[in-house]
Amino acid sequence: MDKLIIQGGAKLKGSVKISGAKNAALPCMAAAILAEGKHTLHRLPHVADIKTMAKLLDYIGISVSLDHASTLNHSKEYKAEAPYDIVKTMRASSLVLGPMLARFGSARVSLPGGCAIGARPLNLHLKALEAMGAKINLEEGYINAEAKRLKGAMIHFDNTTVTGTENIMMAATLADGTTVLENAAREPEVEDLANYLIKMGAHIEGAGTDRITIEGVKELRPADHTIIADRIEAGTIACAAAITGGKITIEDCDPKFIEALLLKLQEAGCTCDIENTSRFTVHGPRRLKAVDVTTAPYPGFATDLQAQFMACMTVADGTSVIAETIFENRFMHTQELVRLGADIKVDGRTAIIKGVDKLIGAQVMATDLRASASLVIAGLAANGQTEVQRIYHLDRGYEGLDKKLVELGAEIQRVH
Ligand code: EPU
Repeated sequence: MDKLIIQGGAKLKGSVKISGAKNAALPCMAAAILAEGKHTLHRLPHVADIKTMAKLLDYIGISVSLDHASTLNHSKEYKAEAPYDIVKTMRASSLVLGPMLARFGSARVSLPGGCAIGARPLNLHLKALEAMGAKINLEEGYINAEAKRLKGAMIHFDNTTVTGTENIMMAATLADGTTVLENAAREPEVEDLANYLIKMGAHIEGAGTDRITIEGVKELRPADHTIIADRIEAGTIACAAAITGGKITIEDCDPKFIEALLLKLQEAGCTCDIENTSRFTVHGPRRLKAVDVTTAPYPGFATDLQAQFMACMTVADGTSVIAETIFENRFMHTQELVRLGADIKVDGRTAIIKGVDKLIGAQVMATDLRASASLVIAGLAANGQTEVQRIYHLDRGYEGLDKKLVELGAEIQRVH
């Protein structure tokens, strides 16, 4: 198992290009199920989750080549199934449910089971598919769904759900009639998926707002699409600039995607210079000031940046309160940050962080993707050596984050 050894203290400086967004790439790959032929996706990040989705599509009957411009090619034999062995390693595998049901008339998808950050049920995905006429039963750990042709419906999501919105939007593209999604997720990744579906011939309006209208069509065609920038990678690197008092120019990512984070970083004493829609610079102060944060669906402060921002707050001047409203168990990193000398108390979904003068390097363990990024950020600012173990979590969703940080002046060694 790989681990990272970090010598803290370096001020990060320079510029960095952001990779394609994992959370946009995954639904776009699943969307390829909807139209037979050869699809081409550009800017897929080279991360473990993308390889897992490629494996799943291959199982279903779509071969994926993950070269420079990734191609997804349909074979003639399909299996409308997502098996447990694959789904248990990646929950986002459930994104194939909507497309398989719409295209093949049936789908069998393993229930994902437990997750480190919260219960994460799929009830809203299933309720929406049932409203569209699907017959669904849960048996032997699997979701079995059937519908000769889904019917357009009015869906109101009780809770904003990102992959739920994506799953139903994909299913609705081939449904009979019009589907309206209310309280839909507004994340840029949802909009990116809609743009790809529109290139495939889908009729979609309102993606990026909380009301999406999809008029079903009989057939879609393969398309060529470039994935948007990974705003969470950009935000993670912005936090690295903030905590080290460094100055990093972030390229190929729209700063609007992480506006809520940039405003908080400014409140904490950073300077953020927006040059244009694909280039901005974050300059950290000598010492950050404590600020409070509450996570929320987009355009609010992303839950996927909560752990990284908390790392910054561990050494800020003052006390900050971070409230996590999206997932009920997304504070696993706090105990690891405490091992580095942070002063954090967790009460339910709120963490109270009293800034300390210095973190001290120690051995810590990554528990999930964003928690591992938070430990890397903390390690960059800690005195001495920090060893981050179990970084396979990091490799699931960041394309060479350690290499990018090293290019910015960090002292990080990957040990196999
Ligand atoms: N929820 C339900 N029922 C459902 C669906 C969701 O109760 O049927 C609840 C969840 O339990 C959670 C809340 O609704 O409390 C929001 O969950 P959502 O469905 O939006 O999360 P997701 O679609 O499973 C995506 C990202 C996550 C990101 C969240 C929130 C992908 C592949 N995953 O998950 O990304 O944290 O949205 O923004 O897009 C990550 O990249 O590290 C990651 C976890």
